[in-house]
Amino acid sequence: MSTLIAPSLLSANFLNLEEDIEMLNRSEADWIHLDIMDGVFVPNISFGFPIIKRLKEKTDKLLDAHLMIVQPEKFIDEIAGCGVRTMNVHYEACTHLHRVVHAIKDKGMQAAVTLNPHTPVALLEDILLDVDMVLLMSVNPGFGGQRFIENTLAKVSRLKEMILRKKPSVLIQVDGGVNLETGKQLVDAGADVLVAGSFIFNSDNPVETIHRLKQL
Ligand code: DX5
Ligand code: ZN
Repeated sequence: MSTLIAPSLLSANFLNLEEDIEMLNRSEADWIHLDIMDGVFVPNISFGFPIIKRLKEKTDKLLDAHLMIVQPEKFIDEIAGCGVRTMNVHYEACTHLHRVVHAIKDKGMQAAVTLNPHTPVALLEDILLDVDMVLLMSVNPGFGGQRFIENTLAKVSRLKEMILRKKPSVLIQVDGGVNLETGKQLVDAGADVLVAGSFIFNSDNPVETIHRLKQL
């Protein structure tokens, strides 16, 4: 399987979002990654339902929502109603993670669990069989344009081992500081899906940048 690329809309131009969506539609991007922040779980606020609701009218790309909010279970119905295909919830934000994961699946979405950089992958042992994907944060969540945390590479390898042992269909997604260099290292370590924001949207030719990431 070739590497899946999920550009993060956080680095798009929100004064001209339609143009950026059209660029993504023309590109080889597989998914569109939506970073939803509440100013509580992370020290930043991004965008919410007024934008997410309208995206489906403009794209056939799969929508991948990364909820950086407390109590993400409150919004499962609404996220599903927006046509989102994968809902990522943080391990650190869910006291009853098993219940949340199954509520997401009951709504027909794929369920993903996200780990902050300091959270060990070993904590996934007893939830791995229930999820479709694990998202490893390679920066502390909240902002685009941060530096890649090297320790993520070792986490990807450890997680890959666990996945092969327990449920080989689970995808590994990595988010934060992804460029051609870190992207290659991540793919070599076992990553299946790369999220990239600033590297794509700040490049001179985003369509070509997505193409190059896709080749990794
Ligand atoms: C950070 C977000 C990321 C962010 C990545 O909290 O989860 O998806 O947009 O941005 P870059 O690729 O610029 O690190
Ligand atoms: Zn994200």
